[in-house]
Amino acid sequence: MVHLKTATEIERIRTSCRIAADAMLAVSEELKPGVTTLFLNQVADQYIRSQNAVASALGYRGFPRSICISVNDEVVHGIPGERVVQEGDILAVDIAVKKDGYHGDMNVSMKAGEITRQAQSLLDTTRQSLEEAIAACVAGQRLGDVGHAIQSYVEERGFSIVREYCGHGIGRNFHEDPQLLHYGIAGTGCRLQAGMVFTIEPMVNEGRAENRVLDDDWTAVTVDGKLSAQYEHTILVTRDGSDVLSRFEDLPW
Ligand code: MF3
Ligand code: CO
Repeated sequence: MVHLKTATEIERIRTSCRIAADAMLAVSEELKPGVTTLFLNQVADQYIRSQNAVASALGYRGFPRSICISVNDEVVHGIPGERVVQEGDILAVDIAVKKDGYHGDMNVSMKAGEITRQAQSLLDTTRQSLEEAIAACVAGQRLGDVGHAIQSYVEERGFSIVREYCGHGIGRNFHEDPQLLHYGIAGTGCRLQAGMVFTIEPMVNEGRAENRVLDDDWTAVTVDGKLSAQYEHTILVTRDGSDVLSRFEDLPW
């Protein structure tokens, strides 16, 4: 069942998103070749705690760290550890925060030093596919319209969209209804209603869409070993469009 959010709930979600966005800034300032992904995890975790908030991922279904960092061919749910960031890496940094009982969730793909033109094209396409999805969000449109906007944008550029992981309603729970697929057929699916809050978080692969989960039971990687990127925002549907709760004028995401 989809829970439509009240004004108070919406502002709490926005507050959690603000903390996530500021933690993202702290991570981006420390991200350079030579640091470990565990160090970046600690940077985010410390900032979140300093705001009297908690990292939603920590302990979620046994997840051992506070944020997810998925490097290069890692698609999603990468576990920060002793891996050292290398020049040319791309890192999808996923930060979700809970404060005053409400969650906010976002993901930004970042680069370490100089990256290839192909990697930059993957980042640009993934980021813009999220913008296309946001533009498709307005009360009365359908979930399939949003998925179709992402899929068509990505596939027209020769990349592929991951099918196994989707966007999700968010609020009192980290994951709630509705599920938002990042692919689909226009004109199908449930209608969007004003007051719905959900994430859109397309994972886009350089090569084939298929992925598999490593023995750590979390990290999904591309089957062909090629790159994967992701961006995510938390979005409120309104009568005439949407309000991106994880977007702030003074921050680049
Ligand atoms: N944004 C990701 C999601 O919504 C974050 C996952 S956190 C984890 O699924 F703990 F589940 F890894
Ligand atoms: Co999410």
